[in-house]
Amino acid sequence: MNLMAKKRVVSAEEMAPEHRLKQTLSWPHLIALGVGAIVGTGILTLTGVGAAKAGPAVILSFAIAGIICAAAALAYAEMATMIPASGSAYTYSYVVIGELIAWIVGWSLILEYSLVVSAVAVGWSGYAAGFMESIGAGLPPALIAGPQLGGIVNLPAVFIIAVVAGLLIVGTKESATLNAILVLVKIVALIVFVAVAMPYFNAANFEPFMPYGFSKSGAPGAEVGVMAAAAIIFFAFYGFDAIATAAEETKNPGRDLSIGIVGSMLACVVIYMAVAAAAIGALAYTRFANSPEPLALILRELDQDWAARFLGASAVIALPTVILAFFYGQSRIFFVMARDRLLPPSLAKVSGRGSPVRITLFTAVIVAILAGLIPLDELAALANAGTLTAFIAVAVCMLIMRRREPNAPRKFKTPLPWVVGLVAILGCAYLFYSLPQTTQIYFLIAHVVGLAIYFLYGSRRSIAD
Ligand code: ALA
Repeated sequence: MNLMAKKRVVSAEEMAPEHRLKQTLSWPHLIALGVGAIVGTGILTLTGVGAAKAGPAVILSFAIAGIICAAAALAYAEMATMIPASGSAYTYSYVVIGELIAWIVGWSLILEYSLVVSAVAVGWSGYAAGFMESIGAGLPPALIAGPQLGGIVNLPAVFIIAVVAGLLIVGTKESATLNAILVLVKIVALIVFVAVAMPYFNAANFEPFMPYGFSKSGAPGAEVGVMAAAAIIFFAFYGFDAIATAAEETKNPGRDLSIGIVGSMLACVVIYMAVAAAAIGALAYTRFANSPEPLALILRELDQDWAARFLGASAVIALPTVILAFFYGQSRIFFVMARDRLLPPSLAKVSGRGSPVRITLFTAVIVAILAGLIPLDELAALANAGTLTAFIAVAVCMLIMRRREPNAPRKFKTPLPWVVGLVAILGCAYLFYSLPQTTQIYFLIAHVVGLAIYFLYGSRRSIAD
């Protein structure tokens, strides 16, 4: 056992054929995968949760989370192009820092990706149920929420996970093309929202601007404040990291990954600021806070039923792209960790179509159970905890490499690396601190379990030098 063992980057040619992934993706696929993964339940649903915690100042929460996420995205792009191997933050930590930290980061990523799949499935269910209701085919309340919210199980959330798992098993390329079409649907829906809501803009809706203060305050589990909202809203911004997990499957990693990551991140920041401003300006935040489908609700309250229905239908059709991207990322992380023997290698077999079927099925069962039973804000907060940990690790790796190998070739260079790196590290740490205390405790428990698995299994079988 060597906790500091580092992984060597092996080229695809050196890998056993059953462990190779096909190189089928280029940057348009990656931007589609990126925007497809980023725009989702965060903007569509958590805008309401954030507004309940920050009031109109949720717009500030968006800006703070966006800046921190953009700093992390730049570090990600640099590391992804230096080490274009599947596994993203996990692989960078393994190469740069060592096995124990890599395990912690890998476990955080598994947590992140799994919980994002569950959270977005619950967000999908909110819009699907609202849409069905609006066409007179509502589902019984007990079947659209888990026990904590007074229901039995969130059945639509379980259903959509099963559908996406099926798509992934059919094969990456087909799924990526379908993904690109659905991304367009999603963007058009948000543009329609802004266009319809903007004429109702009323500056009075921004008063009082910051009713719950700036930093996290309040009872554990019910924290409020701009930062408490930013810690949840952060969910809306990530997803570009799912692109980095596809590194081994890109044709020209240097060009494709940097364009894919930075481009999709910037596009989303612009779209979100417009949507958040339009939402708050159009309707007092108290009327849509904590709604399972806040943007559709705002449109209905403005008597724009057709637009509400259009938005609902688009969310129902297009949100699965987010689930698809994170599901894909999840199976790849699992795959790479199993290939490294930190998890059972029997899981790392890819099928004839180049996709890891067993991991996909295994993941589907777990995330469907979580989505069926746990409320959205709790799933999203825990997903954020995992993501923030991975982002800190990536920025640390970027800075270590700048020091250790300042002259190594870099296909993408982070501008002002020390400033950007420190904004990413300290910003993510502050967001982590601003998460609900219960989330922090669950996160700790998840890592105690993870470390037990590592010491009992992974550390004894690892193939690192
Ligand atoms: N950024 C993704 C979303 O908002 C996870 O759904």
